[in-house]
Amino acid sequence: MSQLVRVRFTLNGKPVSVKVPPMKRLLDVLREDCRVTGTKEGCGEGECGACTVLMAGDPVNACLVPAVQAEGARIVTVEGLAKNGRLSALQTAFVELGGAQCGMCTPGMLVTSAALLARTKGRVPGDEEVREALSGTLCRCTGYQKIVEAVQAAAAPASPKHRAKPRPAKKKKVAAKARPAASKAARRPARKTVRKPAPAKKKAARR
Ligand code: FES
Ligand code: FES
Repeated sequence: MSQLVRVRFTLNGKPVSVKVPPMKRLLDVLREDCRVTGTKEGCGEGECGACTVLMAGDPVNACLVPAVQAEGARIVTVEGLAKNGRLSALQTAFVELGGAQCGMCTPGMLVTSAALLARTKGRVPGDEEVREALSGTLCRCTGYQKIVEAVQAAAAPASPKHRAKPRPAKKKKVAAKARPAASKAARRPARKTVRKPAPAKKKAARR
């Protein structure tokens, strides 16, 4: 049995101290020793990104990080994105826009996206930028487009450019002023004045 070492780090804002074999994978330390199981294992060899967590704000594959390397680090898993039991805007966007299906890649996608949005600071990243940031995390279900849209939607409320413009107040319909009823005489069609032909002048009878 290998020697155990004490490793202390911050996990989702809380201090953690575990005694583990120095080369135990961070992924296993999180799931087995810390009982924080949101982070998933896919390939186990650094290819799929399902196990991604944030270490000092950067995405890392927890299946490749030995426990000793986490000493003193700030680790954030998918559980750390929610605050006071409420999903973050990013998590909500994934749910509402179909960015998650089977959920295998979702914890890795979410933390990686959170790191991207922390870098863009309210600017909505373009399609290519999101795809590039998420290129290390594979998804077999969504086709990626919905994930891209969810990330952009989560960034949008913070961006003045994408903030929904307040709708102008609806104009009240002003009731047309009732015209005063036309007098009877006014309603009558104008009468044509027909001139009677003047009677022909009688010729004075010759006497
Ligand atoms: S499980 Fe770590 S990269 Fe696939
Ligand atoms: S939602 Fe299934 S692998 Fe991404």
